[in-house]
Amino acid sequence: MLKLAVLVSGGGTNLQAIIDSIEKGTITNARIAVVISNNKNAYALERARKHQIEGLCISPKDHEDREAFHQALLKALEERDIDLIVLAGYLVVIPEQMIRKYRNRIINIHPSLIPSFCGTGYYGLKVHEAALARGVKVTGATVHFVDEGTDTGPIILQKPVLVEQGDTPEVLQRRVMEQAEWKLLPKAIDLIANGKVTVENGRVHIAE
Ligand code: GRF
Repeated sequence: MLKLAVLVSGGGTNLQAIIDSIEKGTITNARIAVVISNNKNAYALERARKHQIEGLCISPKDHEDREAFHQALLKALEERDIDLIVLAGYLVVIPEQMIRKYRNRIINIHPSLIPSFCGTGYYGLKVHEAALARGVKVTGATVHFVDEGTDTGPIILQKPVLVEQGDTPEVLQRRVMEQAEWKLLPKAIDLIANGKVTVENGRVHIAE
């Protein structure tokens, strides 16, 4: 049974998709051991509470310095013997020490087809604003392993989403969430939980 820690900062719709998938049985061999947010007001924590999942707020603001915050985050993960860390709209930079300790055991959902519209400064609505400004006809979402870069780790799954005439960033964000993010993240977790995902030379292989 894969023990998940889901790290969140906001509304938690991707967390909800994971919760629902586990409850429906479309994710097997995994359970959410803890939801951790840097934002005590994140609705994602309320979603966890409603499903009797432990929710923690571990915020840089509550620690004397960044290193103390990092240690608190790592301690919370170690105490729960976490196997896979899922970044679901988590807006805090992951410390290198954590990336090394959890090599290819941290995944992130990004709301574009990496390598487009990603990297520093591309998060949330900004990603969709950039896609609309560039005039792309197809965008989508990507689930990838987290490495020392920003949105640069090995790509696990991607799903295209059509951009429609007259789309606003908000309308496009919602379509990408509904059609791609909320499907890809649970799918990636289920594949990993069932031993179907390997990484070789920085590229992901998924067993049939
Ligand atoms: C989503 O747009 C996701 O692509 C990005 O952050 C947002 C999180 O939304 N990583 P939610 O908190 O899961 O609703």
